[in-house]
Amino acid sequence: LGASVGGVPPVLAQAAPAGGIGGDAGAFPADFQWGCATAAYQIEGGVKEDGRGATNWDVFSHTPGKVARGDTGDVACDSYHRYAEDIGLLKALGVKAYRFSVAWSRIFPEGKGKPNAKGLDYYNRLIDGLLAAGITPHMTLFHWDLPAALPGGWQNRDTALAFADYAGFMAGKVSDRVKHFMTVNELRCFTDLSYMTGGKAPGLKLPMGEVNQVRHHGVLAHGLGVQAIRAHARPGTQVGLADNATIFVPALETPEHIDAVKRAVREENAMFLTAIMEGRYIDSYLAAQGKDAPKVQAGDMAAIGSPLDFVSVNIYTGNTVRADVTKPGGYEILPHLPQSPRMASPWLYVTPEVMYWGLRTIHELWQPKALYVSENGCSADDPVAADGKVYDADRVMYLRNYLTHLQRATREGLPVKGYFLWSLMDNFEWEDGYTKLFGIHHVDFATQKRTPKMSADWYRELIRTNRLV
Ligand code: NOJ
Repeated sequence: LGASVGGVPPVLAQAAPAGGIGGDAGAFPADFQWGCATAAYQIEGGVKEDGRGATNWDVFSHTPGKVARGDTGDVACDSYHRYAEDIGLLKALGVKAYRFSVAWSRIFPEGKGKPNAKGLDYYNRLIDGLLAAGITPHMTLFHWDLPAALPGGWQNRDTALAFADYAGFMAGKVSDRVKHFMTVNELRCFTDLSYMTGGKAPGLKLPMGEVNQVRHHGVLAHGLGVQAIRAHARPGTQVGLADNATIFVPALETPEHIDAVKRAVREENAMFLTAIMEGRYIDSYLAAQGKDAPKVQAGDMAAIGSPLDFVSVNIYTGNTVRADVTKPGGYEILPHLPQSPRMASPWLYVTPEVMYWGLRTIHELWQPKALYVSENGCSADDPVAADGKVYDADRVMYLRNYLTHLQRATREGLPVKGYFLWSLMDNFEWEDGYTKLFGIHHVDFATQKRTPKMSADWYRELIRTNRLV
């Protein structure tokens, strides 16, 4: 090793990350949008208030045996009434942005037809409150709570058309103040997990031909929604979606395995993000589905492939992929093992590197103009301490690890503009009810008292310094 550089011992000088010791290696871009995320059915409650129509999740959660302990979103965090307090939580954290979803059935109680002014008023109050607090609203239009009055749900192509009408209506009403719209949240969850494996509403287990049609209606809703938003929104409105694309970590950081990851992401998302980014169903998907392939009408694929201003990804977990030329597609997805570390939700394997690799792979495959992490966070069984506080060191550990890899992504110049932590507060975790809690604020569901967990303190400090180390 050579002589010391600027008084730094040579070994350290060599090991220092880009930016150098005392440099700004841990910093995020100055305009990085730190945020928190929630969704309507998971936090709002007030399910019968002000003319809100019933949704598939109201029906499902009230069907015995579908949700843990029989929990429902009837009250949830009561954010429909406590939104001003929740804006206060966001403000105290210092976040610059808040991602929330609109309950379609508050706006159109029947899914279509006559709009409900009182429902729209709620979101106007929320938006105005956020803006007054200096927080940028990012609006998701569909986060799984489908108006129950729409016949056949996502099995019916008309649902995609109704979604577009609703999306255009919302853009017309709020795009003077909301500049970021996400059409749909997590395609795989409201299609496959709802109509194929059936753990989510409406809980069906359909044959593959019908599942593929549901998937097609999902991406079609997104595409028609993009077109409708663009037709009704003020200039400068940004449109994208929040998808839980299936993403991977390369077994080794070598060109061979990195390429295998790219092939795997393109193939595994063929019916969702790949179709959206390429405006077509790739040949391998159509060939694999054969007679079960979706029925596509003229104009569908052009709508589905509508250009986007950004792509947002919900990043939680991902398997490792290795190159294997003997396998179709040239890759193998390595399974998680019984001893692989995971958080409280059984599916939530701790794989921090997927934060970087997910963003990088999507960027290399399709070069979206901008990327966001629309969700990241974890469930943990946090005990409440004697002093009433939750010292969730495990959640802080999880976040610190994942954000190290987000920091790598920004440092290497990937166009990642923001990050939304899931979630602002403990809330209704779908079929797990209130048994799996993701909040950085503890919610006492008996009193609705919100208390910042240690992770909220940690996040506030990260935002304040805009750096990890
Ligand atoms: C993804 C979903 O969008 C959100 O609704 C859910 O609560 C979190 N992941 C955690 O599972």
